[in-house]
Amino acid sequence: MAISVEALCSPLSLRDLTLENRFMMAPMTRSFSPGGVPGDNVAQYYRRRAEGGVGLIVTEGVGIDHPASLGVSSRGTDIPVMHGEAALAGWAHVVA
Ligand SMILES: Cc1cc2nc3c(=O)[nH]c(=O)nc-3n(C[C@H](O)[C@H](O)[C@H](O)COP(=O)(O)O)c2cc1C
Repeated sequence: MAISVEALCSPLSLRDLTLENRFMMAPMTRSFSPGGVPGDNVAQYYRRRAEGGVGLIVTEGVGIDHPASLGVSSRGTDIPVMHGEAALAGWAHVVA
């Protein structure tokens, strides 16, 4: 089966969302958010990918506000969370 590069480079519309192309960054866990709070380093990481032109970025996995969400073995590994004022402000900065 031939793969069309043109198709990958063409826009994709899904309801209200229109992507410039069909390259998508898969979620990849990182451990650069001390205390679960993504800082400017995380924003710059995603910024570099966005500036590279990828159509959609799926962020790394995050912890929710539940004791089981990251598991005992994952605690203290600087994996970001998606709850609490500081972490939500950090993610808002990443999105901006
Ligand atoms: C280093 C690494 C970290 C990953 N972290 C996540 C993650 O946080 N959340 C998630 O849903 N998938 C995660 N994945 C899975 C990838 O998003 C992807 O689904 C997987 O690499 C298979 O993609 P492929 O079939 O295109 O090779 C991770 C993969 C790698 C290699």
